[in-house]
Amino acid sequence: MKIAIIGSGYVGLTTGACFAEVGHDVLCVDNDEAKVASLRAGKIPIYEPGLEEVVAKNVEAGRLRFTNDTPEGVSFADVIFIAVPTPPQPDGSVDLRFIERVAREIAPAIDSYKVVVDKSTVPVKTGEKVAETIRRYAPEADFDVVSNPEFLREGCAVEDLMKPDRIVIGANSDRAMALMQKIYEPFVAPVLVTDINSAELIKHAANSFLALKISYINAVSAICEASGADVEKVAEGIGTDKRIGRAFLNAGLGYGGSCFPKDIAAFIAISDDLGTPFDLLKEVQRINADQLDRFIKNIRDALWVLQDKRIAVWGLAFKPNTDDVRSSVAIHLVEKLVEEGANVRAYDPKAMDKARQLPVAEKITLVDSPLEAVEEADALVIATEWPEFASVNFKAVKESMLAPLVFDGRNLLDTKTMAKLGFQYRSIGRPIIQAVSAETQAPVAATAG
Ligand code: UGA
Repeated sequence: MKIAIIGSGYVGLTTGACFAEVGHDVLCVDNDEAKVASLRAGKIPIYEPGLEEVVAKNVEAGRLRFTNDTPEGVSFADVIFIAVPTPPQPDGSVDLRFIERVAREIAPAIDSYKVVVDKSTVPVKTGEKVAETIRRYAPEADFDVVSNPEFLREGCAVEDLMKPDRIVIGANSDRAMALMQKIYEPFVAPVLVTDINSAELIKHAANSFLALKISYINAVSAICEASGADVEKVAEGIGTDKRIGRAFLNAGLGYGGSCFPKDIAAFIAISDDLGTPFDLLKEVQRINADQLDRFIKNIRDALWVLQDKRIAVWGLAFKPNTDDVRSSVAIHLVEKLVEEGANVRAYDPKAMDKARQLPVAEKITLVDSPLEAVEEADALVIATEWPEFASVNFKAVKESMLAPLVFDGRNLLDTKTMAKLGFQYRSIGRPIIQAVSAETQAPVAATAG
């Protein structure tokens, strides 16, 4: 099949590469000339495991190409995917100007039957607007609009795309549906066929539910801290119930990234707009914000004063296996520590370049290794659960720090091991290791007061 993807960002580029990988002919379009030039030269603008290889292989095979020219993409393809950004507006609602512009650009170039697929995350009823817009600018155009939301996670985008849990196709025309099914034939996954509005809603409802799960376990983690229970055991205990499931029950600093915060705000705005307010999601947002504030309070309680304290921060990306720092809770944490006058020394395995471009970078020291970050530090904070942080030499960490104080915002480390190593260790919703007792050398676990 001949496919054009308008927008070569995270979703567009990965989708295009994976479609090419299964044998389709793909033309990726982007209006950023520098990006297209760099993609043509084999340079991928994001860190995503496996993506560079898939892109290189399919460019080489001639199945994946890049252009700046939207009309070229439209006349080349049978199916045109829209994968442009849908950023939030200040009130939480979705800014659809890029989608609208693409619809206008596509319209005059439609020279035969085309399927226009919305892959970007959009509010319910956007498909109707896209169709209306194309019809306004090209009344004779022969086309159908389809909604095909994407469920890939950053950090495992290629795998999620190649082996999805399900494929959702929302279409109101059999002709369009037949072409969509042909595109997805090589992917072994159940296909859920719906109307356009339901497909659009599935995306916001799915992300909001996942965020709700995270906030739920984070609220439970606060109760665990207050009562001396262990949130990991609680998560296991409830998660082994198949009706609940263990996934997305990892307590931590809360959710971040370019999707959840934006999509939850959008779903709240959409439901308000439709006259059916979804206040439960406001509580999800509140718990998420509280989780970081509670963590910072714990750091403040332990250090008494943060002004001029040297704090090592491990992890800046919004989650492991990505270099993405957009709406990263780790970055919010650093900003708050800086506001309180702390001297932050931060390290991330992949996100240093992206972090360097943020305003807060001027106010902190970015270092080249986890051990460099902890030199003469008053405390160490783990903000992103990169697996490699767990295998750092913690004896060396302890020797290097002014005081052996560790705050683990992602429950990466083992409490017993940290206790044995003589750290004062505080994580999320798990027993606090206060100090090593002078008489017995035994670690003392305590509950929060
Ligand atoms: C999320 C969804 O998982 C994807 O299905 C969806 O396609 C994507 O948004 C999107 O809308 O494009 P992503 O934002 O890449 O994917 O990352 P997740 O793995 O979902 O993590 C989101 C945030 O939740 C991260 O900050 C992560 O640290 C946090 N999280 C996740 C937790 O705090 N606890 C958990 O148990 C799981």
